[in-house]
Amino acid sequence: MKEIDQLMLANRAWAAEMLAENPDYFNRNVGAQKPVFLWIGCSDSRVAPDQMTQAVPGGLFVHRNIANLVYPDDGNLMAVLHYAVHVLGVENVVICGHYGCGGVQAALDGGADQPIEDWLAHARQVLDDHRDEIDAMPTPEEKVNRLVEVNVRDQLLHLAQTEPVKKAFEADMPLTLHGWVYDLRDGHIKPLMRVTRDTVLAEVPRPERVLV
Ligand code: CO
Repeated sequence: MKEIDQLMLANRAWAAEMLAENPDYFNRNVGAQKPVFLWIGCSDSRVAPDQMTQAVPGGLFVHRNIANLVYPDDGNLMAVLHYAVHVLGVENVVICGHYGCGGVQAALDGGADQPIEDWLAHARQVLDDHRDEIDAMPTPEEKVNRLVEVNVRDQLLHLAQTEPVKKAFEADMPLTLHGWVYDLRDGHIKPLMRVTRDTVLAEVPRPERVLV
């Protein structure tokens, strides 16, 4: 059977299963959404935010791109961020990187196809800013995983300086930014750091290593 047909069949089976468990499963979400989290993650097919957190439909507002990068001039992400924080009222924004990220690896290697190479400019900036530490890692695997971690840190700092987040912090809205990494090897999310309106961004240290 073609994979695309399998996808459709799986969808019908899932819908039937959810309805059998709870006849109100779909109806309760038709009127509006009230998610508590905005998830900013990598597009990688192995990193499925709803599944790894057992979120139900309506639980996570999601934005994904290659290497979970935050560009203040990315109109797509800024619209998602503004809507999540200022319209839906989410109080937690997560940036989640992951073990063995192909985008971060490509930034480390250089020379990816366009437009990927241009997209990865921020990840290469992270590499330049943490070159000493990345170079000191003994194996290629440890290099990419440490870059994954410091990339989450640096993107979280970019996030804290975007207009939607600055506006929320200035208005004393209860907003917390979380930096996490997901370990493909055991399915565990590992927290790295948090940023609130009280965080002094210039003093945020490099996070502890968790992907070893
Ligand atoms: Co990735």
